[in-house]
Amino acid sequence: MGTSSGGASVGKSQTKEVRGVALVKSCHAGSGEKAPALILTLVFKGEGGKGLREWPARLWEDPRGVGPSLSAGSLVLAEGTVVRHNQESQLRLTRITPLKASPEEIQAYIPQSPLSSGLGMARLDAFMESLSEPHLKMFGLELLADPEVRSLLEKAPAAKRNHHAVVGGLLEHTLEIMEMGDRIAPVLHLNRDLLLLGLLLHDLGKCWEISAQPGFAYTDDGRLLGHMFLGCDAIRKTASRVPNFPGILLKLLQHFILSHHGELAYGSPVLPATPEAMAVHMLDNLSGQIYAMRAAKGGEGDEWGYERNRGAQIWHKGSDPEALVALWRDRDVTNGQGAG
Ligand SMILES: [Fe+2]
Ligand SMILES: [Fe+2]
Repeated sequence: MGTSSGGASVGKSQTKEVRGVALVKSCHAGSGEKAPALILTLVFKGEGGKGLREWPARLWEDPRGVGPSLSAGSLVLAEGTVVRHNQESQLRLTRITPLKASPEEIQAYIPQSPLSSGLGMARLDAFMESLSEPHLKMFGLELLADPEVRSLLEKAPAAKRNHHAVVGGLLEHTLEIMEMGDRIAPVLHLNRDLLLLGLLLHDLGKCWEISAQPGFAYTDDGRLLGHMFLGCDAIRKTASRVPNFPGILLKLLQHFILSHHGELAYGSPVLPATPEAMAVHMLDNLSGQIYAMRAAKGGEGDEWGYERNRGAQIWHKGSDPEALVALWRDRDVTNGQGAG
């Protein structure tokens, strides 16, 4: 049986009951005759109020007609059971009740990056100070001196879902790949200045594309223009404030933004045309993939998680050799195949 009002406890059992307060991350009506009435993503507090956990949820019938009153970023009391659907755990709701909540209460359900924004911004400043080509260095420092860019970059999520979809996630993701780029540049004989700037800029447009408010909704600019255009436009303005900034360098920097999805089919209008642009695409992809694997969860205590995007099973113990050896020793003993 489920939970206190502060969190939801759900586990392996396919009929586990859940009753808990949750934030509505997204909510829309199902379409078609056999579709659920409401398709939701809910965010619950973890056991003992620690951490946050997202759950896909479905309400198959909405006899009380609550659907229209639910909006992303509001709190609800969710009641239902956990079921397995397409290899992932899902909540089948029997009842969902809107709750009145203060902004502080709602804030407690908004996932945050573990990275301190102050430390993160200071690391970005240090990276830009370390650039050697004078125009590129001046450009990087000018960009980070922009108060609008700074305040947006401190809070922006890197995505609405999938990876680094938390407040401060864009900064965390950007620094993660800049740290990697700093290390691989000498190994692959890449231009460090260009690579670090390309990594910093690749998703900059997300500052204006996705709101950092509960629900991480796409902004009007985001829907109309997308993060690649918004990033290219922002850095054109920055470059115009750097005296005598060479036009060809601006194009090279815009190329990082336009090519970072790596393939035309994934929304990039051009393919990476320089080794540094290929490295930006690969490091961006690596950061997103690893994050999504770590975030793929099964039921509580499950060794295996399910990553919906790739349809892949993820073995969390596979990153822990000590636990693996202990686990295998126990299993071998249980199976009568003890070593030695
Ligand atoms: Fe992107
Ligand atoms: Fe990215």
